[in-house]
Amino acid sequence: MWQCPLCASPLSVQTNQPWRCDNGHSFDVAKQGYVNLLPVQFKNSLQPGDDKVMVQAREAFLNAGFYAPLIQAISADIQSHRAAGSVRAIYDAGCGEGYYLRQLSALLDDPNITYQGNDIAKNAVLRAAKQAQQHALIQHQYVVASSYHLPLKSNQIDVLLQVFAPMDTAEAVRVLNTGGLWYQVVPNQSHLQEFKTHLYDTVTPHAPEPLTDVPLLKEIDVAFVLDLTSVQKSQLFAMTPYAHSANANKRALCIDDPSSVTIDFKIYVYQLPSEQE
Ligand SMILES: C[S@@+](CC[C@H](N)C(=O)[O-])C[C@H]1O[C@@H](n2cnc3c(N)ncnc32)[C@H](O)[C@@H]1O
Ligand SMILES: [Zn+2]
Repeated sequence: MWQCPLCASPLSVQTNQPWRCDNGHSFDVAKQGYVNLLPVQFKNSLQPGDDKVMVQAREAFLNAGFYAPLIQAISADIQSHRAAGSVRAIYDAGCGEGYYLRQLSALLDDPNITYQGNDIAKNAVLRAAKQAQQHALIQHQYVVASSYHLPLKSNQIDVLLQVFAPMDTAEAVRVLNTGGLWYQVVPNQSHLQEFKTHLYDTVTPHAPEPLTDVPLLKEIDVAFVLDLTSVQKSQLFAMTPYAHSANANKRALCIDDPSSVTIDFKIYVYQLPSEQE
């Protein structure tokens, strides 16, 4: 299932042992249970991906359940597709601290499904692995890796999640099984519109567009409003790219604004052709 990031041969994975390939490359398992499969030459900075503050904010906000409607919609759609036993391997590319995989394993409640994910941020993967340990989720595995070079063998994944994270189309198609489903979640036009009114002089709604080089099965819209405290708004704000781009004044305007916050997601569901087609 996993492949060596240096030579692409299979990695043998044994409990409490470093992961090894036949060419002598070996990768230690951290005490929290994750494995770093991001060779130093693939790193474009010392600590790529989301920083610790962003990861902590996302963990607190997501674990409070505010985005539960999103993963419930994905879970319901997976259920509607799955003939008995057809979903065995679910993978989250850019998994952050693992919220969506933890929720999916609770919702699907099937011990035969494996849940694996990568993120380029070590801080995020460490939290994903730690929380899986704390909840005794033995079907879960998390690695530090880039979604542009997934350390996965080809044609292994039945369901691929990509939630607000970058992905390479060719890599997605390579790792998915025939008939595999790919859930790509992106912000829809009204997402965080109350923040945007404080951040921009004029807000031009921006409609997302699906990829055109993979078969689009359907689009699912998930929208709702949240009444949040200012602490929760600051967590939500810290999860967004505005955390780095907005100045302190604009951030305060967003967080102190008493209005509800609009959440608006677009889920594109792509499906690779099945063998008969
Ligand atoms: C907005 S966050 C979303 C995280 C998670 N999917 C969620 O929704 O909670 C984007 C994530 O993509 C990760 N990321 C950025 N570039 C990446 C790459 N090249 N490969 C893998 N992950 C990456 C970041 O570290 C971050 O955790
Ligand atoms: Zn190797």
